[in-house]
Amino acid sequence: MANASGIFTPTVPTVRRRFSPSIGIYRSGFWFSEGASRRIVCSSSTQGAENASLSESRVSRLVSKGCKLVGCGSAVPNLLISNDDLSKIVDTNDEWISVRTGIRNRRILSQKDSLTALAVEAAKKALEMAKVDPEEVDLVLMCTSTPEDLFGSAPQIQKALGCKNNPLAYDITAACSGFVLGLVSAACHIRGGGFKNVLVIGADALSRYVDWTDRGSCILFGDAAGAVLVQGKEKDDACDSEEDGLFAFDLHSDGGGQRHLNAGMKEKETDHEIGTNGSLLGQLPKGSSYSCIQMNGKEVFRFAVRVVPQSIELALEKAGLTGSSIDWLLLHQANQRILDAVATRLQLPSERVISNLANYGNTSAASIPLALDEAVRSGKVKPGHTIATAGFGAGLTWGSAIIRWG
Ligand code: ACO
Repeated sequence: MANASGIFTPTVPTVRRRFSPSIGIYRSGFWFSEGASRRIVCSSSTQGAENASLSESRVSRLVSKGCKLVGCGSAVPNLLISNDDLSKIVDTNDEWISVRTGIRNRRILSQKDSLTALAVEAAKKALEMAKVDPEEVDLVLMCTSTPEDLFGSAPQIQKALGCKNNPLAYDITAACSGFVLGLVSAACHIRGGGFKNVLVIGADALSRYVDWTDRGSCILFGDAAGAVLVQGKEKDDACDSEEDGLFAFDLHSDGGGQRHLNAGMKEKETDHEIGTNGSLLGQLPKGSSYSCIQMNGKEVFRFAVRVVPQSIELALEKAGLTGSSIDWLLLHQANQRILDAVATRLQLPSERVISNLANYGNTSAASIPLALDEAVRSGKVKPGHTIATAGFGAGLTWGSAIIRWG
């Protein structure tokens, strides 16, 4: 089992300061310190040595301090599948699904749709809200477990958006915890790497890996994309250290729990050995793909209601906050009963719990930014509101972050 804890002490408001200010982020490949003597500078580029001067310009922004969440967007496929629709393909019904999960509808990518296109649509909306030009984006983090290219989708999103100014783009694979990890990674890159405009996208199409004959799992999942623009602010910018948007975080993983939730690789049936007469060809790997999602729902449920409140409580403690001081609880949208159980444990009334899974089901890495986007655009979440957010899922992975919107 592993864990990572975080507090961005140099930028946390004074009332929250509880830890040594010399340590900002450790364990992410960066070391950031108030004192210049301990800085390790990391610069990266997808465009080779000829662009070294552009990378240097990123390094010169290492003084970035605060980071703010300044824009969000989301996109869902057109195809809507209701519980009644599902009852025509598996032995289930609307009442069972809605009572046990809170889910009524989900959106599914049809065969001609592209998840990458959905991610681009969500990202464009986030940039529009943030009033940031694609050319100003210097990092794209695509949080997904279902990329349309084995090697990752982020660079294609970068290209489609028109982020031309020496950006870096890569994928983060952490299932339903992906977006929280993406947010924390964005902050690490801003504080320790000199990045300025980081687009964090959560997008998944788990419908492509669902066994549509398994009523225990096919009722849960939907497809979607959501995005948030995290912006680094120089000390002199409008966002000073008192206005930082990511107070603290708490991250974990436990490979021992993988047996409860996985979609393992499987070899294709095709056989190289035909006609090879024991040659090397017979020993080479066969083409492979992934099996459908295998899930022990009861175990995953128990895991979630046990670890999520613990993680949020830890992050709140690091931020010097209590449950009563947060405006919103924004959990990975897996099951309404999980949301309710976590809220009860944190003594938060249901009015402060953001939930939209009735309309979309569990959209994996997309669920948090999708729900955030709806809450922001409907006026529920306002600038300055504090949000406790947490992701949990396959890996197993889980983690939480205490953030401020706007
Ligand atoms: N319709 C009707 N009956 C059903 C259905 C269905 N869709 N599914 C299961 N049943 C039946 C079962 O066969 C069982 O019948 P039995 O008592 O005759 O054996 C009964 O209902 C109870 O089944 P359980 O599996 O015990 O039901 P449970 O209350 O645990 O609910 C559920 C199942 C909804 C899957 C729940 O366990 C859950 O939400 N778990 C968490 C899943 C989750 O959050 N996964 C996150 C994945 S995120 C990621 O990283 C990919």
